[in-house]
Amino acid sequence: MKRTLFVTTALPYANGPLHIGHVMEYIQADIWVRFQRMRGHAVHFVCADDAHGAPIMIAAEKAGKTPQQFTAEIAAGRKPYFDGFCIGFDHFHSTDSPENTALAQEMYRELRKDELIEVREIEQFYDPVKGMFLPDRYIKGECPKCGAKDQYGDSCEVCGAVYVPTELKNPYSTLTGATPELRSSEHYFFLLSDARCVQFLREWTAGKNRHGEPTLQPEVYAKTLEWLGDSSSTAAKGLADWDISRDAPYFGIPIPDAQGKFFYVWLDAPIGYLAALKNYFDSGKARANGEPRSFDEFVADPGVEQVHFIGKDIVYFHTLFWPAMLKFAGRKVPDNIYVHGFITVSGEKMSKSRGTGISPLRYLELGMNAEWLRYYIAAKLNARVEDIDLNPDDFLARVNSDLIGKYVNIASRAASFIGRHFDGRLHPDTQGASLAAARAAEPDVSALLEQREYGKALREVMRVADFANEHFDRHKPWELVKDPLQRDTLHAICSDALHCFRALTIYLAPVLPSTAQRVATDLLGMDRPLLWSDLDAPIERIAAYKHLMTRVEAKQLDALFEPPATPQAVAPVPGGVELAPLITIDDFAKVDLRIATVVDCDFIEGSDKLLRFTLDVGEGRHRTVFSGIKSAYGSPEELVGRRVVLVANLAPRKMKFGVSEGMILSASHADASAQPGIFLLAVDDGAQAGMRVS
Ligand code: 2FM
Ligand code: ZN
Repeated sequence: MKRTLFVTTALPYANGPLHIGHVMEYIQADIWVRFQRMRGHAVHFVCADDAHGAPIMIAAEKAGKTPQQFTAEIAAGRKPYFDGFCIGFDHFHSTDSPENTALAQEMYRELRKDELIEVREIEQFYDPVKGMFLPDRYIKGECPKCGAKDQYGDSCEVCGAVYVPTELKNPYSTLTGATPELRSSEHYFFLLSDARCVQFLREWTAGKNRHGEPTLQPEVYAKTLEWLGDSSSTAAKGLADWDISRDAPYFGIPIPDAQGKFFYVWLDAPIGYLAALKNYFDSGKARANGEPRSFDEFVADPGVEQVHFIGKDIVYFHTLFWPAMLKFAGRKVPDNIYVHGFITVSGEKMSKSRGTGISPLRYLELGMNAEWLRYYIAAKLNARVEDIDLNPDDFLARVNSDLIGKYVNIASRAASFIGRHFDGRLHPDTQGASLAAARAAEPDVSALLEQREYGKALREVMRVADFANEHFDRHKPWELVKDPLQRDTLHAICSDALHCFRALTIYLAPVLPSTAQRVATDLLGMDRPLLWSDLDAPIERIAAYKHLMTRVEAKQLDALFEPPATPQAVAPVPGGVELAPLITIDDFAKVDLRIATVVDCDFIEGSDKLLRFTLDVGEGRHRTVFSGIKSAYGSPEELVGRRVVLVANLAPRKMKFGVSEGMILSASHADASAQPGIFLLAVDDGAQAGMRVS
């Protein structure tokens, strides 16, 4: 049965570059999509920028741009990531689009007809200077419980208390510093607590797709049960009605018949899945991809399967709000929501806005092969909501031993015998042990890929690769070749290895699409990509073997995990100093400079540049910071006790020797090779650890 699938990943916020967490999700979904296509199914794989909301409006304003300009620039930067990591979205659109406006307004009207929308007066903080209601994240103040200063509106980082912004003492707006005023305003609510919604969600979350697989992973389903509460009551315990409106000024979609009201970004974001799909249809791309119907026909077809890949932080939106919105707007509901965990880098958590220390673009700029990362991530992924860790030693070992040592090795050895001694022709017998092992693994490999158990699928593939290499070695082709009587055996052994290699290439193709393509065209002389059904066709002839993949080198990983050299922002100008471009006081205020006392300072074995500092920044704990000043400070013990200036809010950076939590300021000449010397800044007496430098 040929399936037709509509697949999405979560829509990234249009306020910054993509980080490794985005790339992981795209790789997970892309592998699944490629696998489905190789099995002969039709897939429409779309994504879009999530463009709306207050943070993007404010970021655009700070950058001196309209939100449209701002998000257009972000959108223009997406392509290198998709091309670079072989992420084959069929279409990439934006939630700030006519399609999304029309769809969101239409769906809202349907919900209103169903009497699932209600207007309520609510009280909220308003910034009288900025002239806008403040989202919680822009309000700070003193914790109502412990009195700690500068706490966010939802919880206290010092004592852990949870509260609402109106409970803060001495609240202030982080946008202007003004004291916010409580004002009331009308908000629109989606009545998620309505018995119809609760009933529907209980059924949908517990449901199965058409293949008998549960709609949600077990741990995700368990989470929804907590939210939906006890099934003996009709009104859910935890399920609150959802505030879907925001007051002007807001970058979003106007709510019909409601002057000055906009949809909250999370209302229109998932509708963006449909908007992106509509634009894909209307632009003719769906037709080119073999789908002759219109968007409306396609989305109304119960035969189309709708699958969303998302991270564990946005489960609530996708398992409650989104299916309920679709259902009561009279549309088809998702068939599956596939949730993954987070990716940590050397154990370091990622921040949603800053990502981690390693940047996907830097990975590509260093000339590292995208398929190494695809393979590594796939090898770590399973179908559960588990976090995975990317770390350099593991990466090096896994990629080199599996891909180069096992997989590529089969082809490079067998192909050279076939080329040199048999003019590239393969033995007609396809009953060899290695191909048999590969064939026997097929049901498991395909089932595991289907279930997103990529790690297990790849272990199965590598088990067969191990077998094929051992089998090859056991027959010692390098000795067979010396004996003319063994020519047929040599031919059969090498041909079997190559048939097995082609099977493994098919299994790996969703993960390694460009290597698989090179095997298909260069080695097998095919004029189309490999399909799952190619498993059984005998190979008649191969072309001369061309190198398929290089090893990862430790120095590449060092470069990826090492912070880039201190930026030499400007070149030295003879006779003068050229300054970096002007910044505003707001730009400067983003840099949190603090006085730190050196508690300890040491050499680091294996580094000729760095010193390891233990610093007291007045936080009640110590920080470790690495600084490249060893050449100028040869007696680190003499630095103990002195005070330095630290960039205290620099994102922690994983280095070869540990995580560095900040940067110590020092001066040097722009052309250090001509005029060496590094000079730590001195701090006058009286300044104490933790004081802010401004
Ligand atoms: O969490 C996020 O990054 C959101 N921008 C995801 C939106 S997914 C969908 F609902 F649009
Ligand atoms: Zn507190």
